[in-house]
Amino acid sequence: MLPDDLLSIIKDRRSTRKFTDKEVSDEVLMQIIDAGRFAPSNTNRQGWKFLLIKNDDLKEQMHKAVSDKVDEILDSMKSKVRYRAMRAYTKYFTFFKDAPVLIVALFTRPSVVAELLMKDTKRVEMISGELISVSMALQNMQLMTHSLGLGSCILTGPLLAYESMKTLLDIEDKYEICCLMAAGYPAEESFSPKRKDIDKIIEIIK
Ligand SMILES: Cc1cc2nc3c(=O)[nH]c(=O)nc-3n(C[C@H](O)[C@H](O)[C@H](O)COP(=O)(O)O)c2cc1C
Repeated sequence: MLPDDLLSIIKDRRSTRKFTDKEVSDEVLMQIIDAGRFAPSNTNRQGWKFLLIKNDDLKEQMHKAVSDKVDEILDSMKSKVRYRAMRAYTKYFTFFKDAPVLIVALFTRPSVVAELLMKDTKRVEMISGELISVSMALQNMQLMTHSLGLGSCILTGPLLAYESMKTLLDIEDKYEICCLMAAGYPAEESFSPKRKDIDKIIEIIK
């Protein structure tokens, strides 16, 4: 593959938030996950797991958990400005309900034994290694999704309802939820949010 081909896959990928009803086949889903599992990971631990949700009832229950939490937050807000901002954001936390597939990305927490063995390492550093690893897998998955003609969007907004989500999905204690990835065939063309110029994000140290 030429560098320009890779760059165009990277640059043309967009977060998709509206999907058609077209089903995403299990075969396509496996291609997406396969791209994820070849990502680099912390000491090659591959401490990730992906829940693939196509079940409408479950999506509906997850949606309700997030909507209830958002309502609770809205009810407790005193500032009108913040209230309006939160209300405007709500659709970005809840649109996942209409995605044909919802991928819940999990990462393993370091075990108690690992924490004892590495007691000089801060817990936050250990967790960040796992979180970076699953994030790299997700990036591979988003690019694969795009190259297969599908669209996707990463969501952390729904994690407002983190505890309800963990219970609903019956997630083992050793896992934390990284985010959701909504996927399906795009129903519309998404606009491209502007990127910061390169000189704004680098500092050359000679
Ligand atoms: C960690 C992370 C969390 C995100 N959470 C949300 C979210 O909760 N809801 C949403 O609509 N988009 C979410 N996004 C998508 C971003 O808004 C999007 O990537 C960004 O605006 C750039 O647009 P692009 O992906 O089309 O290039 C998230 C993206 C990342 C990487």
